[in-house]
Amino acid sequence: MKRIQKGPVRGISLKLQEERERRMDFVPDEFAIKTDRIEVDKETIDLLAYLGMSELPGIVLKKETPMVSTSISGGFGGGRGGSGRRIKGNNPLSSKQREMENFPLVNMEKLNDAERKATMDKIKDACENWGFFELVNHGISNEMLDTVERMTKEHYKKCMEQRFKEMVTAKALEDVKTEVNNVDWESTFFIRHLPNSNISEIPDLDDEYREVMRDFAGKLEKLAEELLDLLCENLGLEKGYLKKAFQGSKSKAPNFGTKVSNYPPCPTPDLIKGLRAHTDAGGIILLFQDGKVSGLQLLKDGEWIDVPPMHHSIVINLGDQIEVITNGKYKSVMHRVIAQTNGTRMSIASFYNPGNDAVIYPAKKLVKEESENEQVYPKFVFDDYMKLYAGLKFQAKEPRFEAMKAAEACSPAATP
Ligand SMILES: [Fe+2]
Repeated sequence: MKRIQKGPVRGISLKLQEERERRMDFVPDEFAIKTDRIEVDKETIDLLAYLGMSELPGIVLKKETPMVSTSISGGFGGGRGGSGRRIKGNNPLSSKQREMENFPLVNMEKLNDAERKATMDKIKDACENWGFFELVNHGISNEMLDTVERMTKEHYKKCMEQRFKEMVTAKALEDVKTEVNNVDWESTFFIRHLPNSNISEIPDLDDEYREVMRDFAGKLEKLAEELLDLLCENLGLEKGYLKKAFQGSKSKAPNFGTKVSNYPPCPTPDLIKGLRAHTDAGGIILLFQDGKVSGLQLLKDGEWIDVPPMHHSIVINLGDQIEVITNGKYKSVMHRVIAQTNGTRMSIASFYNPGNDAVIYPAKKLVKEESENEQVYPKFVFDDYMKLYAGLKFQAKEPRFEAMKAAEACSPAATP
């Protein structure tokens, strides 16, 4: 472990510099910064402004600025779900039907019997080619899931529905005539579980619902950590690697929270999305979705594929941080929610993310040292990525990675 050399960096405010130095005090040897000049495109320059790093020395504008839609082949992404790819329309296609039928379904019970190898292979294939899979027999009882669903729907009716209607009226969304790109047709609230729970502070939750959600989160946390270890096994990383990578250096805990959403019936689903297309910023996401009302779609090979609703299943998807740590072996995938004209869709998404001060970087084992031309993903403090993501959630991920790479390259030099 080396200590990064501290020193003035022109163009960065003292406050930002101090914050970065505080976080970067202890970083592994492989975080040595060797580049003193990096060429970036205009979009990356703009993104760096979000980080207050637009004037970092060594960052220069590329003479030829490639379009985002064509830049991913030689950079980050380059695979399925890359948001720079051409996206086909929403018309149902036969290939789309086929993909839906092939959506990866993992029976976790099979991990304990003779089919373990085949099940692990299915998870591997899902991580490499889908970024999504659906779990059954995951260890969370149907009874608990039914209770969570019933209470969440009751809570929506009692505490959220009227508020949503008022929002729709206030933003004049009842009868829009043109596409709306700055708001989603969703009603949400958030609960934080780790590093510190705020569930007792969430207004309008009755004690029973609060207790049920606390228990549910505990089960999901264990399931997330179990899944991370299955990913480690498939990746050839030691058990616990991903869990450890997600631990903040101070809290020694991940960020773990739940977004509780409802997507009410929408009169114009072609003009306003339930949730606009995005990749998730964090680690691994566990979704308990409505068993009847569909709407979740993922982008695969340029087509939007429905994630089929299945009673009592948990849908898993991978976030940007898994893509970075696996150096692109696994990728986060664009997804969105299409509001329905009939039926309110419930969606309870729990995000197992790195701690704010966790330093995220590609696992050494997954970077091919023999390949000089391989694109290596950046190294950064997770909170810096989230600052960038906050304003850019609904844009392509590749420029976010480029911006973090540029920030990394211009960080204070490491001692030899
Ligand atoms: Fe998402």
